[in-house]
Amino acid sequence: MARQDTPTNEMSLRWTVCGDRDVTVRGAEPGDVSALRRFIDGLSRESRYFRFLSGGQVGDAVVSRVLGRHDGRDIALVVTDGEEVVANAVYVVNDADEAEFAVVVADAWQGRGLGRRLIQHLQQLARAAGLRGMRGDVLSENRRMLAIVRELGFSTRRAPGDAYVQEVSLRLAAVTREAWLAHDWFQG
Ligand SMILES: CC(C)(COP(=O)(O)OP(=O)(O)OC[C@H]1O[C@@H](n2cnc3c(N)ncnc32)[C@H](O)[C@@H]1OP(=O)(O)O)[C@@H](O)C(=O)NCCC(=O)NCCS
Repeated sequence: MARQDTPTNEMSLRWTVCGDRDVTVRGAEPGDVSALRRFIDGLSRESRYFRFLSGGQVGDAVVSRVLGRHDGRDIALVVTDGEEVVANAVYVVNDADEAEFAVVVADAWQGRGLGRRLIQHLQQLARAAGLRGMRGDVLSENRRMLAIVRELGFSTRRAPGDAYVQEVSLRLAAVTREAWLAHDWFQG
């Protein structure tokens, strides 16, 4: 099966958000650690809670994990506006050959299509890497995230043993062309 390494920054992309703001989407690098720390510290308590399951300070070890392990199969992306990180998307490949993913967008950038587009991009990378599927844990109260992933073809179910978490999953072979090419994919 074809595998894909963490994208090098030769593969960085430019996306236009809301038709007027250009951002860069690229693989996270060790040099991003300070910008990532600023990004995470700048998140609202709710966004930090939804992403890291803690509204408090996020530890350095977690920030390092967000940078990715760079061991070939895992993906860690940052979206930057100039020097600032405005979003981060990661997946880690588990033993079942699934991409365990998580995404977070800076509060000021939320609601502009960036989160959905990042999840679609992760889907594309996971599929290109020949992975069997994607999965993630989303808090039941995170209605926005649940709405986005359902729209992208994921199924959701209560996580076994945890009433407050929804397990979201997608078999990549089952993704339809329509889900891939959701309406905002090529638009700004
Ligand atoms: C969840 C998150 C990644 C989504 O990214 P985003 O850039 O804000 O989302 P988008 O702009 O791509 O999509 C928003 C969509 O959610 C929908 N939405 C917004 N609020 C909603 C709500 N309360 N209930 C249901 N749907 C909602 C909107 O209808 C919108 O769809 P539309 O564009 O068709 O109108 C982002 O809000 C975030 O970082 N949240 C905090 C961290 C987090 O929750 N991470 C996910 C856990 S892994």
